[in-house]
Amino acid sequence: MCGIVGAIAARDVSSILIDGLHRLEYRGYDSTGIALLDEDGELQLRRAVGKVVRLEERLRAAPCHGPIGIAHSRWATHGGVTEANAHPHVSGGRIALIHNGIIENYVELRSELQAKGYHFASETDTEVIAHLIHELVKQGNDLTTAVRQAVRRLTGAYAIVVFDAQEPDRICVARIASPLVIGLGKDGENFVASDVQALLTETRRFQFLEEGDVAEIRRDAITIWDQSDAEVSRPVHESSLSADAVERGEYAHYMLKEIYEQPRALADTLSERLLGDHVLEAVLGPAAGRILPLVQNVHIVACGTSFHAGLVARYYLEQGARIPCSVEVASEYRYRDPVVTPGTLFLAISQSGETADTLAALREARRLGYVGTCAICNVAESSLVREADMALMTRAGPEVGVASTKAFTTQLAALGMLGLAIAQRRGFDRRTIALYARQMAQVPTLVEHTLKLDPQIRQWATRFADKQHALFLGRGPSYPVALEGALKLKEISYIHAEAYPAGELKHGPLALVDAEMPVIAVAPNNALLEKLKSNLQEVRARGGQLFVFADPNAGIEPADGIDVMTMPDHIEALQAPLVYTVPLQLLAYHVAVLRGTDVDQPRNLAKSVTVE
Ligand code: G6P
Repeated sequence: MCGIVGAIAARDVSSILIDGLHRLEYRGYDSTGIALLDEDGELQLRRAVGKVVRLEERLRAAPCHGPIGIAHSRWATHGGVTEANAHPHVSGGRIALIHNGIIENYVELRSELQAKGYHFASETDTEVIAHLIHELVKQGNDLTTAVRQAVRRLTGAYAIVVFDAQEPDRICVARIASPLVIGLGKDGENFVASDVQALLTETRRFQFLEEGDVAEIRRDAITIWDQSDAEVSRPVHESSLSADAVERGEYAHYMLKEIYEQPRALADTLSERLLGDHVLEAVLGPAAGRILPLVQNVHIVACGTSFHAGLVARYYLEQGARIPCSVEVASEYRYRDPVVTPGTLFLAISQSGETADTLAALREARRLGYVGTCAICNVAESSLVREADMALMTRAGPEVGVASTKAFTTQLAALGMLGLAIAQRRGFDRRTIALYARQMAQVPTLVEHTLKLDPQIRQWATRFADKQHALFLGRGPSYPVALEGALKLKEISYIHAEAYPAGELKHGPLALVDAEMPVIAVAPNNALLEKLKSNLQEVRARGGQLFVFADPNAGIEPADGIDVMTMPDHIEALQAPLVYTVPLQLLAYHVAVLRGTDVDQPRNLAKSVTVE
């Protein structure tokens, strides 16, 4: 998704801006651009389609430097992927502006500005903001006043950063529904970005802008106005993230690094919360004591991989804690006008905490009479965490690969703990709680053992690399694991992959099965194993090639047309979704590498989807 970096200093900021764009590359984008105010007061603009390296080539061919600048990576929404549509957009040769989000009333604003003589050089919704601000400065306003007035005309979602070549003492910014953070530099310099990761080499001190804030950033002063136009101060946070937490190290791709980080990420997520025989309820925050006793139902809402985590959580909550649970994708929920059963907890799951649909769903839920809202999230400073009544943080660390891996398994660990916290409140037998707590505590070690299958999985991958389609099967909690496996494969290898609950095979997908359709099955040793085995026979009888990730005691033997990967022994029901996800991540990864795709930044996808 689009990325923003801006800087005002006494030195050249071009390399800071380019480095920031590199650090935001993981978000997914299709074009980039930079605008600098050079030493002679000239506005310099360079833009390029494709990766940041293309922009760097442009800059080598036509260098520019300066102490004020803004840079952007664009993920196209309005208008195709062209240089003219890339940001920054410039108005009147003096206003340079970058924007994340979508302006919903841009058509009306565009006609109004065209009537005033403005010529539009792009097909974007963004360009109207640049011209609108230009029109206001032309009328005699300073940039700050112009921005404060212009944002009142905008509807939709935006994080904007703008400078005026004729006022070289400031950058102005504003946000609604799209994140923006000010980085406080030393010695008369300040920064702004859509994500703290862009600025970690320059500063660790950040001010997060709230909904509707407008700010004026000077070298030595920052002034912020809130939605009601009152001057406010926002707290300064010291980030604990290190700049190298987002380095790839010895790994060929971030995704592989993040798969291998799972034992540590899981251990961190469980530590200090899972105390031997119970879960520390206080980790959900001060509202937990008030809300949890009222919970009779749970309604989970999320997108993408986080939605799959929700589907697993339904088993934890219904089978484990005996509490009714429904799960839904956020983009549907927010427009469905749902009926809320009394005593229902709204649970939003999101790695980033900034996904537009999930955030909108949370805001809708707050009006609807839930007993409370809870976020499972990986980013402590995110909007989702700030706006929910309770939050349980995953401690996966920054996830850079667009295809989510460690965020998913740590979400499952957090959801397992939430299930235990609810079961404790519902007066479950202490020995049962203690048993589940011990099983959860073993997961990091089991995942570590599972990673040892990597060389065998790489071998299997060679047999998928030339395929067009793949089918994933699972039953019970292994069905969402199969869904996640199929999502990983399609996201990064571009092989069409679908997942089905294995019992549903005969109601349609069996028609697709032939020797060209590899069928991947997730077969832990649980109450549904025998049923799954019958379903696998149905595949074999049609000449389908089976690849089964199986418990050592599953009684599934390798044979003609059946390849079996033996998983670690004694995986309990609670543990299986976490452990069986890992080989599916590795399979997708190796297939993608063999097919030569861009593993960490797959085409058309974005890490954090901050537009609807
Ligand atoms: C995007 C990402 C997915 C992610 C989904 C939800 O589509 O590419 O990996 O699962 O957004 O993101 P969230 O941050 O809300 O978990």
